[in-house]
Amino acid sequence: MRRLIIILCALLLIAAGHHRITGWSEGQVAAGTARTLAAVEPVPISLPDTVAPQVTERTLLFYYSPTCPHCQQVMPEINDLMERIDLPLIGIASGSATQSQIDEFAETYKAQFETTIDTDRGFALAVGARSTPNVYIVQPRVADPDAPVDPLTYNMPPKPFEILESYSPFSRGMGAVLLMRQAEDPFEHFEGYVGNIACSTCHEQEAVSWAITHHAQAYYTLYVRERVEESECVRCHVTGMGERGGFKMGDHFSPMTSVTCESCHGPSGPHDGETTDASASCEGCHDADHSVAFTLEKGLPHIDHFAANEMTTAELQEKVAAISRGEAARPLLAFPEGPTVGAEACKSCHRAEHRTLKRAPHSKAMRRLVGVDAENIECVRCHATPAASGPPAEDLSGYRVDEGVGCEACHGPGTDHAAAPTADNIIGLGESCPECVIEAICTSCHTPAWDEDWELSSHLEAIAH
Ligand code: HEC
Ligand code: HEC
Ligand code: HEC
Ligand code: HEC
Ligand code: HEC
Ligand code: HEC
Ligand code: HEC
Ligand code: HEC
Repeated sequence: MRRLIIILCALLLIAAGHHRITGWSEGQVAAGTARTLAAVEPVPISLPDTVAPQVTERTLLFYYSPTCPHCQQVMPEINDLMERIDLPLIGIASGSATQSQIDEFAETYKAQFETTIDTDRGFALAVGARSTPNVYIVQPRVADPDAPVDPLTYNMPPKPFEILESYSPFSRGMGAVLLMRQAEDPFEHFEGYVGNIACSTCHEQEAVSWAITHHAQAYYTLYVRERVEESECVRCHVTGMGERGGFKMGDHFSPMTSVTCESCHGPSGPHDGETTDASASCEGCHDADHSVAFTLEKGLPHIDHFAANEMTTAELQEKVAAISRGEAARPLLAFPEGPTVGAEACKSCHRAEHRTLKRAPHSKAMRRLVGVDAENIECVRCHATPAASGPPAEDLSGYRVDEGVGCEACHGPGTDHAAAPTADNIIGLGESCPECVIEAICTSCHTPAWDEDWELSSHLEAIAH
């Protein structure tokens, strides 16, 4: 019954067009709900004699190989399933497994179930398994005496079992989907963090649009920089660190890596009728030291949950690839809008910094541009300070060609600050996370094309002032 109500809710929301954040595209909230919860047609099978006698009622079958790393990784989830679901579970090891491997597996991963070896591969053939790990829900089949005779199969051996569900390959995060489909109320088992796979089955459009955000690759960002062992970095680049069901350090294949749905919507998401405001979550991570002058107005348009609806598959793939190559735009880096005033205006109060800058290559950057290049906007844009923040100017009047790369190229526009200095009307950078914020400011000019062997810490040292 509850299932039906939820499907109806979803349909109503779609019909009502649902309240939407300004700037977000049109889409369907939880468009996949009906499909996710729909019953599937059981598939008749026969089971080999090694397995058949054990299946006397609806049963979970876990098909695995004791030496396969993926099977080992999903074991905590299989054990959790056994505790939470009211069905017997039988392990079936692939034909090549030996008893000692199975014993060792059971010991190491605390398997709570008995295992039968599929010695003649009869089980794999019966269910059409090509890989491990898989989970099946099977039950004895009650043949319908009134069913019409099928002329193609009437003289074949009967198929006394049926597969109700198959999860192949079974990956981490799938347990929540299995539980959800078996329960009367799909959210009955939603406790703590359940992971993106479950959310994505129902919230299809939101999930695709999430996949093309930087959030989806936040852990990868640390991984390629070999920073995943540092909990001080990891905590904002994963979901629910240290909380129930949330990320645990070192678990690189966890569904809780990166900034997923539940980072913003809270563990399990809001399905109890109480709406929580996910936009309250941003500043927990986008604080002053990890995001330049973050505001909701700036941030929300870039997490548009339906942005992908208007894109082709090729465009989606390109966006994901651009993010992983570090070439996708980082819109949050934008300095607050406003005119710059020029480095000379900073001199009176910041004498030491000004002296350092004067001697450094940055202030001489325009001298590198000789001949026509000195008026070539394609060169000037990285060799001079913009006259105002905002979209790059299209002609020379948009740049302070007399000062090269000045204070405001890195600290943002300082007109208001120079007139009435406070710490709030200039981008300080002193406490900023070098990797999260400062490096991106530098690499907006120090691109691979112009600075092949860019390296953050030595460059930062070189500009210390
Ligand atoms: C079984 C399908 C299903 C799954 C799984 C599911 N949702 Fe939902 N979700 C819905 C439906 C249907 C609605 C709209 C009706 C409602 O609020 O119950 C919804 C509503 C929402 C809303 C909007 C609520 C509001 O009040 O504005 C958010 C946010 C949300 N889900 C997040 C999540 C997250 C996060 C997950 C994973 C932890 C998740 N959902 C998993 C079906 C699902
Ligand atoms: C759990 C921490 C966390 C939360 C909560 C969070 N973010 Fe982020 N956000 C990040 C991290 C980390 C990155 C950088 C990811 C990367 O590129 O590796 C990021 C990147 C982004 C980016 C793209 C990067 C850029 O420079 O433009 C946008 C836009 C963004 N977040 C908006 C938001 C908004 C809006 C919210 C709240 C609705 C939010 N974020 C909540 C951690 C978080
Ligand atoms: C308080 C939360 C927080 C912590 C702690 C944190 N980050 Fe971040 N990180 C963010 C946010 C938010 C962004 C996106 C900033 C933006 O674009 O405005 C980000 C962005 C980044 C990026 C840029 C990604 C890109 O697309 O180029 C890198 C690299 C990064 N962080 C590395 C680190 C490292 C290394 C550490 C540890 C020293 C760390 N982060 C600690 C929140 C955090
Ligand atoms: C960076 C934070 C963030 C992440 C990650 C995120 N959301 Fe949201 N989501 C929001 C914000 C902000 C809103 C709009 C305000 C609100 O409804 O709380 C929203 C709205 C929604 C809504 C209501 C839709 C609407 O149009 O009002 C649903 C449903 C939802 N999110 C599901 C998801 C799912 C599923 C995922 C993961 C695939 C996800 N969200 C990931 C921040 C986030
Ligand atoms: C995307 C930003 C960017 C653009 C566009 C750019 N430069 Fe540069 N340029 C740099 C950076 C960064 C350096 C410093 C590289 C280093 O020292 O590692 C540099 C250094 C130089 C140098 C001195 C070092 C060398 O490589 O010889 C010259 C000369 C130069 N640029 C000329 C040009 C000309 C001419 C153009 C236009 C055709 C141009 N630049 C466009 C960023 C840029
Ligand atoms: C190439 C980029 C760049 C330029 C140009 C630059 N700065 Fe900085 N500035 C930084 C960075 C990065 C930091 C913080 C890290 C550090 O201390 O090196 C910083 C730190 C500072 C601080 C200390 C902030 C604090 O919170 O402790 C002041 C003050 C400052 N700069 C002023 C200036 C002035 C004035 C100029 C021009 C005369 C200038 N900067 C030019 C990048 C720059
Ligand atoms: C009239 C004097 C004055 C002028 C002119 C001035 N500043 Fe400042 N600046 C200050 C004072 C005072 C502070 C310390 C503010 C505080 O901590 O409340 C400061 C702080 C800063 C900081 C550090 C902010 C932080 O978060 O701690 C930076 C960066 C900075 N100034 C850059 C500049 C730049 C760039 C210019 C030129 C565009 C400039 N200042 C012009 C007086 C000035
Ligand atoms: C507006 C573009 C721009 C920004 C932003 C920028 N740079 Fe540069 N940088 C240049 C250019 C252009 C040169 C070449 C100057 C020359 O050689 O005349 C340069 C040269 C340098 C040099 C000396 C040459 C070398 O490669 O050793 C260092 C060090 C440096 N930058 C560090 C930084 C750091 C650190 C940041 C960020 C905090 C930064 N830059 C931000 C454009 C920029």
